[in-house]
Order: sequence, then C-alpha cells, then structure tokens
Amino acid sequence: MHFSPERYMVTSALPYANGPLHIGHLAGAYLSADIYVRFLRLMGKEVVYACGSDEHGAAITLRAMKEGTTPQSIIDKYHDLFKVAFEKIGISFDIYHRTSAKIHHETAQEIFKTLYDKGEFIERESEQYYDEEAKQFLADRYIKGTCPKCGHEEAFGDQCEKCGSALSPTELIAPQSTLSGSTPVLRKTTHWYLPLDKYEDWLREWITTGKLEGQEHHDASAWKNHVLGQCKSWIDGGLQPRSMTRDLDWGIDVPPEIQGSEGKKLYVWMDAPIGYISATKQWALENGKDWKPYWQDEKTALIHFIGKDNIVFHCLIFPAILKAHGAYILPVNVPANQFVNLEGRKLSTSRNWAVWVNEYVEELPGKEDELRYHMIKNMPEQRDSEFTWKGYQESVNNELVNNLANFINRVLVLTHKYYDGVVPAFNENEAFISAATQDYDGYHDGEMLQLHDDLQEINEHIRKFEFRFALSALMKVSTQGNQLLQHNAPWKQIKEDPDTVKVVMNLALQIVGALSVVISPFMPFSAKRLRKMLGLSEDLEHGALESLLTALAEGEHILKAGHKISKSSHLFSRVDDDLVATQMAKLESHQSLKETLDTAQKPSVEGVTPKSIIQYEDFAKMDIRVATIVAAEKIPKADKLLKVTLDVGDHKRVVVSGIAEHYQASDIIGQQVSLLANLAPRKLRGVESQGMILMATDHDGKLRFVAPHGGAKSGSEIS
Ligand code: MF3
Ligand code: ZN
Repeated sequence: MHFSPERYMVTSALPYANGPLHIGHLAGAYLSADIYVRFLRLMGKEVVYACGSDEHGAAITLRAMKEGTTPQSIIDKYHDLFKVAFEKIGISFDIYHRTSAKIHHETAQEIFKTLYDKGEFIERESEQYYDEEAKQFLADRYIKGTCPKCGHEEAFGDQCEKCGSALSPTELIAPQSTLSGSTPVLRKTTHWYLPLDKYEDWLREWITTGKLEGQEHHDASAWKNHVLGQCKSWIDGGLQPRSMTRDLDWGIDVPPEIQGSEGKKLYVWMDAPIGYISATKQWALENGKDWKPYWQDEKTALIHFIGKDNIVFHCLIFPAILKAHGAYILPVNVPANQFVNLEGRKLSTSRNWAVWVNEYVEELPGKEDELRYHMIKNMPEQRDSEFTWKGYQESVNNELVNNLANFINRVLVLTHKYYDGVVPAFNENEAFISAATQDYDGYHDGEMLQLHDDLQEINEHIRKFEFRFALSALMKVSTQGNQLLQHNAPWKQIKEDPDTVKVVMNLALQIVGALSVVISPFMPFSAKRLRKMLGLSEDLEHGALESLLTALAEGEHILKAGHKISKSSHLFSRVDDDLVATQMAKLESHQSLKETLDTAQKPSVEGVTPKSIIQYEDFAKMDIRVATIVAAEKIPKADKLLKVTLDVGDHKRVVVSGIAEHYQASDIIGQQVSLLANLAPRKLRGVESQGMILMATDHDGKLRFVAPHGGAKSGSEIS
C-alpha cells in the first residue's frame, strides 16, 4: 500500500442463502478475512468487517421451486443457519447483514438511480427467452439445453457444468424452460447496461499498474498472480456492456421513478456487492458511528476477500460501479482464494459432497480450532487444495497435539512442579542466560528480541495475505520452544543446576505467553483456553499484540516473575481412527444415496431431476390409508378421469383419479387402494376430489394400484 491507512474496511463475499455453509466457503473467503481482521484489531487498528446473506438471484428462486416453497422461507432458513455456523466457527464479523433488508434495498436503488441520473447506463433492447406458459422472461439459469461445445444435454443458459464453458442462453441447442418444460421463445425486452468497454482504459491501468488517473492508488505487485491474470485476460478479451437489470419477480425493484422500470429488478451482481455498503450502514446505526469514512475516505483501505469465481465482479464490475458513482473508494487488494477439493473430488452442494460447518460443530464440539487450523494450513491461496479426513487427523495429531499442545503442557506442568505455578525470577546476569541458551539456535542473548522478530515474521505474512506461511511461522515458535526444553532438559538439570533451569523455564513461559496472543487470529478458542490456564484475561484487548511487540522490543517480559499461572490441561486432543472412519462413511453414504436416487429416477421421464431429500417429519405429514373402491364412473368429456367413491372405514370419500385410460369403471369395484387422505381438496371438472389414489407407473407408462398384500381393513393407516 502506498499509504498507511487510517482505517480498514474488510468484506467477505456474501454467501447465497440457498444452501448451508461448507468448508469450501470457509477456506475461500471467511477464514482468511477473519485472521486478517483479528490481527488488525490486535494491532490496534480501526477496522469494520462486514458480510451478510446474498438473498436475491435465480439461485434462490430455483431452490425455492425445488423445495416447493417460497424464496422468503428459503432465505430465512439459510440466513439463520449461516449466522449460527459463522458464529460457532468463530468468524468475527462486526456485522452479518442480509440483502432482503430495507436499508439494503434503499441503498442499492439509490446507487442505481445516481448512475442512471448521471447517464452512466445505456438503454438497450434485445431478444431474450420468454416462457409463454409461465408467462415470464427466463433467467439464464432457468434454461436448460444441449451444450454446443460438448453435447452435454443438461447445460444451463449461463454455463455448461460438464465442460465448464460460459454460455449464453441463445447458444443452447434445443433450449427448454425449467419452469414449465416448454420451449421458450425470443421476445424483445429493454434493459440498462453498464458500458464496461467505456471504462476499459482506466480499469486496465488500475489493475496493471495500481494507478488511478495517474495517481498511485495501491501496490499492484502485492496482488496475487492468479487474480491479476484473470483480470487481465478479461480486459484483453475486450470488455462488453453488461446488463444491470433483469426481468424477474424476486429481487430489488429498479427505482420506480425511472421510466420503463415496471417488472424490472436489479441484476443480482449489481445488488449484492452493495450489500457490503448497506451492512456497514447498519453497523454504524447500531454502534453510533459514521459509515461514510469507511467507504468514501481515501485514507481507508478497502479489502475484499472472495473465492476465485467472484474475481471479475469484485475487480472489474463493482469498481466500475463505484467509480461511475463518484463518491466511493476502490479496493486496495482483492486477495481471492482458489477452491478446495474434498477427498479427491470437487465439493458439491447438490451432490452433498461436502463437510458442512453446522454438522461439524455439532458432531465435534470443542474442535473448532482443529478445523480452522487444518483449513488454514491447506488454504487454496495460490492454487486449488485438498481436504482429506486423514490429512485433518495428521495435522491435529502431529502438529497441534505433538508440537503446540505438548510444548505448552510441558512448560505449565513443570512450572507447577518446580515453582508451585509461579513464574520464576532469575539472575539477570548475562552469564546465566547464555549458559542456558548458548547452543540453542533460536534464542541467544537477546532472547526477547528474538521472540519479537519471530512474531514480526508472522505479522509480515499476514499483512501480505500469506496465511499459510504465517501459520507455519507460528508453529516454528512452538517448535523452537520444544527444542529449548529438549536441549536443556530441565527435568535432568533441576537438581544440579537449578539456576540455569530458572532461566530456561522463564524463557519458555515467555514464549507460551506470546503464543497466547499470536495464536488468537488463527485459533481464537484455544487462545482463550490458554490465557485462562496462564491466569491472564481471556479476551485480548484491542491493540494487545501491538503492546506486546513494543514490550518485547524493549526486552520486557510478558509473564512477570511472581505471576501465578492457573491449572493446566491439554489444549488439543488426538483425533483417533474412528473419527476418520465415521466421517468417511458419512460422506460415502451421502454419495451412494444420491447415486441410487439418480439412477432410480432419471430413466423414466426425460429431464426430470431427482426429488430432493426430505426429513422424516416431512413424510410424517402424509396421512395414507387403505381404502376400498365402492363405486366408479366416467366423468363426461374427460378422457382420463374417473370419479371414484371410496370406503375409508368410518366414512366415504370421492376422489377424481386420472386412470380412465387404464381401467374400466366397472372392473375396479371392490379393489383396495392406497389413498393419500390429507391432500388439500381440489375441484376437477366440477367434482371436488378429496384425496389422491396412489398408483405405480411401470416403464411403459402403465398404471397399477398399490394395495396391501393379502388385503387390510379399509381405513388402516399406511406408514
Ligand atoms: N453470492 C455470491 C456467491 O456465493 C457472492 C456474492 S459477493 C457480493 O458466489 F459481492 F456480491 F456480495
Ligand atoms: Zn459443455
């Protein structure tokens, strides 16, 4: 950065509220940001860390359709799940907001209106697919068809998931609306476009040199290569005007004062990033602060943490919107991460191939930091990485237990044993100190200075968004602590040379004290536990690391002689093979369940996707009974329908059933059937149908009754 910021505005990508949080999200945009902001706070910086749920866009409406419910109930459900998951795994947002909030709708509309009034948009008519049955324009995701590149038959209008090509809906062969199954038609519609081509020159300069209108803005060499590479290839490919509105019914209305706004919504990628701003506004309201400096003062460092699939939106489109508006600052860095794979396969929400954070914290309570540690160690900073349960086990056992927890435990146990838990004073005489540390690489005479430098190394890596390096520098401190003990073997020396042991133990305690601060951005829960054991305040103050560094630079001790530590216990416990086996079995069972459903349901009707998994509670809502047909007659002018009267034990019912092409009315009297008895009544051809007769459809489409084997009393419950 060319300036020293007065404050930091840090964001993590707003997750779509259409599925729960998994480790891919965590490693992509949340853990990195969380380490960074926790570090900034410890360094005494002013920082706001904002995020929230992304609650608009086709992904949400599609999910609602699949689950047979409304977008509102989908977003409420996942917003709540996100909040809990983030909190439990220790992501320390200053605010977790949501884009369905009124303040967000207003903020997004205001920014849209400003751009409109300034003439930044171009209005364009184009032809887009329209579903004549569902009577609506189709979002790209709502259209399926054959991929022109690879022939995959289930490609979406925006992308083929088989070959990864980005598509536009008109490229699809044999397009089909996923709403009604009908073939969509092209219709004219008008939208507002952001002329990205017009901004190409300044975007190129800004991205490649870090200069904005000739002025230093940020250090371009500090950006990750893969981020710069993606931006450059977009720019070199030629930027096109991009539509900022959509014909949809779920989303933020185009401001009604704008002519032709009716039925139009903001494009979700116009609306969502503005969510960072509206979340900051909400934070300011709740905390009696001013939001403006965070977004509009040049002295603020704005940093977006995201996954690689969001790069163009945060590096080109959102900056273009902010600059076109005129009052806003641009990001100084966008340290995007790549993807995490799970056990050799791509993570997938729809295939349930994931480790879900809500489940992890419930099944493995107290092991939050173990997950954080392993994910940070394998953070996909520069390239994709891999999560395996075996690898998780190795990280925990070899590094957290054998190295970190072991060092801390040895120091605390020995302190209790030799000194009744009181930090020993030692003779400040240089001769003693060098006797204790002379052959030992890490900590020579100026040992407090050495510790200071080791902590600085961690900090430098965090500042450069190198969280993996930062974590290994942190573990190096613990390794050196272990070496210090190993080398001096206090347990052997305590009788012969108690003075040297005092020096060693005092130094080891200083290292443990320092660890209780520096591990906290990475492993906040363990930091608290450790501080409790050390008899220190559990919560670290704002600026705690900054003061620690100043103290160390002056050769001061962290734990003063005479300070009494508290009870010690193990900071981490081993992960056994059972845990790994259980988690692997769970993943495999998800997978095989999904595969069974896929093969069972796919062949019958072309294009029908498997039904989503339901809970027992959902099944239990159905009242299914044995019933006996007592009368049946054809319904006039309806080829398929029979009016059937059923004996349900204590009463009779009329059901309209679509079986007339398969059975003669007179042939089915006396037939037992399964009746879905609590289906909401519906009028069909003027007859009220009070339930549904369940039928089995064989592969040539023939219908058969589902009846109790050997017969059962009418009214018997089926469950
Ligand atoms: N919801 C998007 C996703 O999950 C990310 C939105 S980031 C924001 O890919 F900037 F738009 F908020
Ligand atoms: Zn394809």
